Amino acid sequence: MSTLAVYPGSFDPLTNGHVDIIERGARLFDRIIVAILVNAEKAPMFTMAERVDMTRAVFKNHPNVEIDTFDGLLVNYMQRRKANVIVRGLRAVSDFEYEMQMALMNRELAGTVETVFMMPAAKYSFISSRLIKEVFSLGGRVHDLVPELVERRLQEKQGVNL
Ligand SMILES: Nc1ncnc2c1ncn2[C@@H]1O[C@H](COP(=O)(O)OP(=O)(O)OP(=O)(O)O)[C@@H](O)[C@H]1O
Ligand SMILES: [Mg+2]
Repeated sequence: MSTLAVYPGSFDPLTNGHVDIIERGARLFDRIIVAILVNAEKAPMFTMAERVDMTRAVFKNHPNVEIDTFDGLLVNYMQRRKANVIVRGLRAVSDFEYEMQMALMNRELAGTVETVFMMPAAKYSFISSRLIKEVFSLGGRVHDLVPELVERRLQEKQGVNL
């Protein structure tokens, strides 16, 4: 039996924490789809197309990593893609309560789908997209926290907004 995993999120933007989880997933499962959620936030920094492009570029040499987008219920998307595993990252206890609720709700909605949690390398465990955007916009250095391409795109965005 082959395992097709889906790693859902808003990825606005992709961080080294996400990259770490995707690489672990790509080693564990036959194939992993990074599924970027449409409308996750009202005002994302990066458009859907920008998030897809950046994520595709970072994983261009990973043949079993696919980048896709989805809207609506995750379990419906999973059914369409015939995927059986949801991958989520756990950074700290603070992620746990929300993630457990989501996992059990998704099990309620689709009993055959399993959620698998993965821990990132400790050095990435404090990173979130929200914090990256906040730190970057205040002039902080995010060099080792996001892929180089994402850092460049953040700089370009800031240039545009000046
Ligand atoms: N640094 C990280 N290490 C491990 N997992 C992570 C990390 N950052 C995010 N994740 C996980 O990735 C998945 C997608 O998360 P999401 O797109 O919300 O990213 P985020 O960084 O939490 O963004 P935001 O700050 O906008 O909520 C979630 O399961 C989340 O727990
Ligand atoms: Mg989050």
